[in-house]
Amino acid sequence: MKPSVAGWAKLAPILGMLLSLLSLTCLAQSASWPTHSQTSGNAFLPPSLKALQADAGSNPISLWLDRGELAWRDTSTGPSCANCHGAARSLREAVVQHPRLSADGQRLLNLEDQILACRKRSGKTNDHLESEEVLALSALLHQSAQGLSWQVQAPPAQQAQWQARLMQGTALYTQRIGRMNLACVHCHDQNIGKQMRADVISPAHPGGFPIYRMSWQGMGSIDRRLRACYSGVQAVMPPVGDLALRDLELFLKVRASGLVLDGPSIRR
Ligand code: HEC
Ligand code: HEC
Repeated sequence: MKPSVAGWAKLAPILGMLLSLLSLTCLAQSASWPTHSQTSGNAFLPPSLKALQADAGSNPISLWLDRGELAWRDTSTGPSCANCHGAARSLREAVVQHPRLSADGQRLLNLEDQILACRKRSGKTNDHLESEEVLALSALLHQSAQGLSWQVQAPPAQQAQWQARLMQGTALYTQRIGRMNLACVHCHDQNIGKQMRADVISPAHPGGFPIYRMSWQGMGSIDRRLRACYSGVQAVMPPVGDLALRDLELFLKVRASGLVLDGPSIRR
């Protein structure tokens, strides 16, 4: 039995109840977009970006993957990732198991947190969560995990702490925030397929991260995308690496149980 799925099953009725109580009218329905809650974010791309995504020659993500390969084997300041871990592919299972609880059970660490900690082992002490090398390595590892499905679950020895993080993530997902006074659930469950400015609202699945976002002209992690949603509803943006963002990430990945990873993807 997968505790993660069981955890989600317990939460589903709460979300369902909330959904039936809420309504939102400011968004326009466009009939041509998917509305299914299991649909990958890639299905919500306009045709031009779908074409870019499919074309390895011009897809900017290719360059980031090359850069990730170089960083993986970089021995200029100490042992490389490859020295300690072998092929990047050998860590693909670890990709779908993050975020994980820290040993003391107090906080969740996502894949970029782990990469950052390991960069220090390679002698790279000036990095931070949004360093290009960290994002390039994240892209490489997520690419190698393409096709696997999310397997975040409670570690047997830390059931209670893990459930507490998941409950917190669920609470945040349904909590109204910002001057727009909207919760994640209003957009990403109740208004899937509706147009919001130039975007079409997707179910906010985690399978396309890290994303190359055209408006960023660069790679960004799920952490950065979540902060952008806080800003979108004119709420105070949590700082990079904030624990609330990790709790939300856990919630989103439990909610995505059974969905497969697309790997790094293009976004508008
Ligand atoms: C000196 C050896 C060493 C180097 C160099 C190193 N790591 Fe690690 N890595 C570890 C150890 C030990 C762990 C076990 C978890 C921990 O202690 O952080 C680990 C865990 C990981 C994990 C989680 C794997 C799992 O199965 O749980 C990832 C992902 C990872 N490292 C990525 C990297 C990347 C990317 C680099 C290069 C920047 C790198 N590591 C460099 C030693 C290393
Ligand atoms: C007012 C509507 C709105 C709210 C509220 C909102 N978002 Fe978003 N979100 C968007 C739009 C628009 C996008 C970009 C299009 C898309 O992928 O849905 C987006 C994108 C995302 C994505 C990226 C999906 C992908 O495949 O690229 C995630 C994850 C996400 N939001 C999570 C959240 C979380 C968690 C919250 C609550 C803290 C939240 N959003 C609140 C509108 C919203």
